[in-house]
Amino acid sequence: EKQGYKHFMLKEIYEQPESLKRLLEANLKDGSINLRQNGLNKDWLADYDKIHIVACGTAYHSGALAKYLLEDKLRIPVEVEVASEYRYRKPIVDSSTLMIVVSQSGETADTLAALRLAKKEGADVLALTNSRDSSIARESDMIIYLKAGPEIAVASTKAYTNMVAAFYLLLIDGMKQRSEIKQQTIKKYTSDLIKLPEMIRKLIDNSKAQIKLLAEKYALKDNIFFIGRNTDYTLALEGALKLKEISYIHAEAYPAGELKHGTLALIEKGIPVIALASRSDVFAKLFSNLEEVKARGAETLLITEAKQNFKEESIDHLIELPLLNQDFAGLLAIIPLQLLAYYTALECGEDIDQPRNLAKSVTVE
Ligand code: M6R
Repeated sequence: EKQGYKHFMLKEIYEQPESLKRLLEANLKDGSINLRQNGLNKDWLADYDKIHIVACGTAYHSGALAKYLLEDKLRIPVEVEVASEYRYRKPIVDSSTLMIVVSQSGETADTLAALRLAKKEGADVLALTNSRDSSIARESDMIIYLKAGPEIAVASTKAYTNMVAAFYLLLIDGMKQRSEIKQQTIKKYTSDLIKLPEMIRKLIDNSKAQIKLLAEKYALKDNIFFIGRNTDYTLALEGALKLKEISYIHAEAYPAGELKHGTLALIEKGIPVIALASRSDVFAKLFSNLEEVKARGAETLLITEAKQNFKEESIDHLIELPLLNQDFAGLLAIIPLQLLAYYTALECGEDIDQPRNLAKSVTVE
C-alpha cells in the first residue's frame, strides 16, 4: 500500500534509490558489470550492424536518451522510434539488426506488434521489461529485467529510472567489448554508476522544499516549456510528458537549438522555461539559448551541475545537481522534474495516480 505517502507516485519517486540499487546489484559481480546474471544470455553487441530501439511514452524517452550514449561510445548506428510509427511503416530491419524494446508492463500493444514485425524479418530482440511473465518477455530473445518492483501510479517514475540505468549497464558492457576503450575508463564508469542511488536519495531530500515553492507558481501557468541539448533534450521530453500527464498543464519540450526555428515566437513575459543542463559539453550553447528566452521575458529555471559558471541575471531559479559523469547525470536531472510534476499536480488538485483518460497499461492501440 501507500505506506504513509499521499500518492503512489510520490512513494515510487522515493523508492528510486532502492529500486535502482536492486537493478545494479543484480548486474554486478566483484565490482564489475555482468549482465549474464540477470537474464541476458547472449552476446548482445557483437553480432549486429545496427540497433533499433522501439517503445512508447516514457519508455521511448529512455531509448531516446540511450541513442545518444550508445552511438557516442560504441559507434554503432542506433535508431529510436515510437512503436506506433515503427509498426506501420516499412523499417529496414533484418538479421543484422538488434531490436531493443523497452516496456515497463511488457504488454503495450504497439511495442509488442513492433517486436513481432522485427522478429518476422529475422531480427533478434532484447527486451528491457519490468514484468517477467509478460508477452514481451516471452517473445524476446534476450531480456534485462528492470527490477523496479510494482509501479502503480500511471505516471512512470521508478521504472523510467531503471530503464535508463539498464541502458547505462548495456553501455558499460558494450564499452568492455570495444578494444579502443581503456580499462580505466570502464572502471571509472562503473564506479560512477554505483554512486547514483545514494546521490538520488540526497537530491530528493535536498530539492523537495524548493520544488514545492516552484510548483505553487507553475500551477498558475497555462504553458511551460522545457529545453535541453543532447541527452538533456530527452530529459526535457520526459519532464514535459510527466507534467502534462498529471497536472494537465500544456508542456512542450524542444531541442534548445530549435527555438529559433519557430517556438521562440511563443515566448512572452512570464512563460516558464525549464532548461536542463546535466551535460557540460553543451552547457555554453544551452545557456545562450536560455539568455535568448530570458531577453523575451521568460521566467527561467536552470537545472545544472553545481560547478557551472554562468551569468546569474539570466536565471530566475536554479536547482543544483551534484557532480557526476555527464553521461549518467541525466538520472539526477530527472528527479527534480518528477517532483515538479508531482507537486504542481498536487497544487492543481488533480487525481495524481489516475490521470483522466489514461491507463497504466495500454494493451489496445
Ligand atoms: O508499459 P510500458 O512501459 O510499455 O508503457 C509505455 C507508456 O504507456 C508509458 O510509459 C506512459 O507513457 C506513462 N504513463 C508515462 O508516465
